[in-house]
Amino acid sequence: MPINAALLAPTAPAQSWRIGLIGFGCVGQGLYDILQQHPASSFEVARIVVKNPDKVRPLPAAQFEFEAEALLDDNTLDVLVEVIDDADAAFRLVVAALRRGRRVVTANKAMLARHLLELVDLQRAHGGTLLYEAAVCGSIPVIRTLDAYFGTEPLRQLTGILNGSSNYVLTRMGEGGTDYGPALARAQQLGFAETDPSLDMGAFDPRSKAVLLAAHAYGLFLEPEQVLNLGIEGISATDIAFAASRGEKIKVVAGLQRLLDGRVTALVTPQLVGPESPLFGVDEEFNGVVLEADFAGEQFLRGRGAGGHPTGSAVLADLAALRQGFAYHYAKTAAPPTHATDLEIEIYLRTDEPRLIDLLDFSEVSEEADEDGYVVGYVALAHLITHRDLLREHGAFIVRTGQLRPVGEAAEATEAAEAALETAGRSW
Ligand code: HSE
Repeated sequence: MPINAALLAPTAPAQSWRIGLIGFGCVGQGLYDILQQHPASSFEVARIVVKNPDKVRPLPAAQFEFEAEALLDDNTLDVLVEVIDDADAAFRLVVAALRRGRRVVTANKAMLARHLLELVDLQRAHGGTLLYEAAVCGSIPVIRTLDAYFGTEPLRQLTGILNGSSNYVLTRMGEGGTDYGPALARAQQLGFAETDPSLDMGAFDPRSKAVLLAAHAYGLFLEPEQVLNLGIEGISATDIAFAASRGEKIKVVAGLQRLLDGRVTALVTPQLVGPESPLFGVDEEFNGVVLEADFAGEQFLRGRGAGGHPTGSAVLADLAALRQGFAYHYAKTAAPPTHATDLEIEIYLRTDEPRLIDLLDFSEVSEEADEDGYVVGYVALAHLITHRDLLREHGAFIVRTGQLRPVGEAAEATEAAEAALETAGRSW
């Protein structure tokens, strides 16, 4: 077969793009460093804006300026990269940039999760483009995979470890010998944790990421509060031993799942993970995502979920995608599913306050260990959502131990759907 010579001809070098970088923390410095080490990428950091003029930085002070707004109207900049910590300030900047029809890359998951729908509308109204691969799972290309590759194929389920810091702490504690406090301090030292680490440990950070994944995986725009988030602040050696006695590990897992009736549920909780799961071996600050697609079957993505270089690498990938004219399609938002919370979930709850057990109103209890202060059984997902703050304040620790199960009318609909599938000779 003749070879098409045009395919083998060297391509012209990409025209260099000028970046306006807003923020020079862990991610900003990670990107800057990557571009220094990799000049062939043809991206140049032309202007850098930071907040605090007095902070000592690894570059000469003359390279920094302090008015982010000044970058918005600088048309010599091809793209703005927003990587600041403050979600409200980030939102104002991104909105102003999109109103001017600009190209923007951000890593600010809390800001995106709170305002995603508005930001999508702004892009459509003004012709700007916003990419944010770095906001979820650091270096793993999960948003682009969902949006571009699985934009048409229905997904049954997505399960993932989306927070590097809590995974790092769980790994250290699981290996024994390290307590929660020192393990968290190390995660902070390594630059994995948020400035406020309770966002990591209380599962607020992975909740934001789950909201973004729900939009791309299912076309479902959720408010962050609609997603149950239970963290690991109350974890103890008793809980690690409980999991180990079953040959399992505790991981903070985000679960997005399409139910048999087509509705979708989303939650982030500590969960027992056994060796049969690809997530079992996702340790340290690594993240992992298991996708179950109707036709493609199961896929597993694993990579570094936090840190300057991995996250900077995701920003660079977005810059390159923008230069090729890529924008998210949000294809599934054309026919979004309904969000479901009328489900029961099997949990392990450890608390020294019996009234918290009463509060959750277990519908079924399969195990109780008074000496260790835990109970295992089914509770309503809605109760956990309602009482999560109280449970957290009182130091209760909860681990998901089993599948979700529908209740009430949803249970009847599920039974009917299962029977129909069986009649048709198919399984779920
Ligand atoms: N604090 C986050 C984490 C950083 O630990 O995963 C990456 O989003």
